[in-house]
Amino acid sequence: MKILVVGGGGREHAIIKAIKKNPRAEKIYALPGNGGIAADAECVPIDAKDIPGIVRFAIKNHVDYAIVAPDDPLALGAVDALEDAGVPCFGPRKSAAIIESSKVFAKELMHKYGIPTAAYQVFTDMDKAMEYIETCPIPTVVKADGLALGKGVTVAMTREEARDAVKSIMGDRVFGDSGASIVIEEYLEGPEVSVLSFTDGTTVVPMVSSMDHKRAGDNDTGPNTGGMGTVAPNPYYTPQVAKECMERIFLPTINAMREEGRPFKGCLYFGLMITKDGPKVIEYNCRFGDPETQVVLPLLESDLLRVMWAVTDCRLGETEVKFSDKSACCVVLASKGYPVKYESGCPITLPAPEANREIYVAGAEERDGKLCSHGGRVLGVTAIEDTLEKAVAGAYDYAAKVKFENGFCRSDIGGRALAALKEE
Ligand code: AMP
Ligand code: GLY
Repeated sequence: MKILVVGGGGREHAIIKAIKKNPRAEKIYALPGNGGIAADAECVPIDAKDIPGIVRFAIKNHVDYAIVAPDDPLALGAVDALEDAGVPCFGPRKSAAIIESSKVFAKELMHKYGIPTAAYQVFTDMDKAMEYIETCPIPTVVKADGLALGKGVTVAMTREEARDAVKSIMGDRVFGDSGASIVIEEYLEGPEVSVLSFTDGTTVVPMVSSMDHKRAGDNDTGPNTGGMGTVAPNPYYTPQVAKECMERIFLPTINAMREEGRPFKGCLYFGLMITKDGPKVIEYNCRFGDPETQVVLPLLESDLLRVMWAVTDCRLGETEVKFSDKSACCVVLASKGYPVKYESGCPITLPAPEANREIYVAGAEERDGKLCSHGGRVLGVTAIEDTLEKAVAGAYDYAAKVKFENGFCRSDIGGRALAALKEE
């Protein structure tokens, strides 16, 4: 079977390593992949947003199955275009990917179907938004409606910050048309939990929970990034919270999307906050999280490709999806200066493979036969162990064996989760 994976980061590397375990995956193409993914798949220099190019490649190469991983091609309708050309896919169609690509859509969906989330207002007029900010409770949260490379959210601790956020999103249009509408919402407090789920539009199967670390610096300081590390499972996601999420959030969301004529098939990511009033949705993503995937998929005991096919065929309810009860930790090695200003092209030497350790390459290219950094987040180093404590120590030990002089990592990935376990 010939499989095409759209994307070229650490998440795609983790997906490719997992599907490779199925002997039916005889050929895997990554579009565009990267210099590290090249060890596990044939990388083809077609941009993930070049939908006609992707479709042409799939047809010409008789691709049997496509997995579309990043948000941009999903929002642009990559799955629609591939399916219409006869290529079965894993991933939502454009009409369902809107759950991530429009925050206004997501908020209105939750409001209509009574799914717990922060109270909110939508604005299309900057003056009205500014007026609202003068009297709204502070802190408050300002969100651009559309995709903004994960940077469209400002948690404003003062009115001044909220005004600045509205001005840059709506006035200066720093995210382009993504800022034509904004959501201003209630500030929620509590630990955050990421839950990725498989869904075929009717059945929803949550994967093992995880915790991201979004800020660049230790103790959650510094600018927001794409994610500096993850652990799984997340200790705040207790069986009681899981039950509540299934009843009040996961199933109602899947049913709502079906009722709206936008059945969601693929991986739906629930970004949750466990507030004193119970779990609430902070965001939906229409795809696997990055770097959540780098801790979730190593714990999947079932065959990923089979589960994906079951989603595509709407047979998820009859398919076993089993996770190990071990723990995983992924430490991201990023280029010094990320996410602001950083150099690329710095040499990297990977350590020898070890059992229960994985290195997922997020941003690297091959230059004269040598792996060099190419981007902000460069590697995700994952360890799988019986306990979270051992997984965290294992990930840091293995990361220390990587030679990457221009790299840095946070030193406290998993710290909050370990502290929560000790409190129990
Ligand atoms: P997002 O880009 O949607 O993932 O949001 C980035 C981060 O902003 C989230 O991970 C939260 O930490 C924070 N955030 C988003 N919405 C809220 C909210 N309503 N209250 C408090 N924090 C929030
Ligand atoms: N790690 C957060 C995301 O993938 O959106």
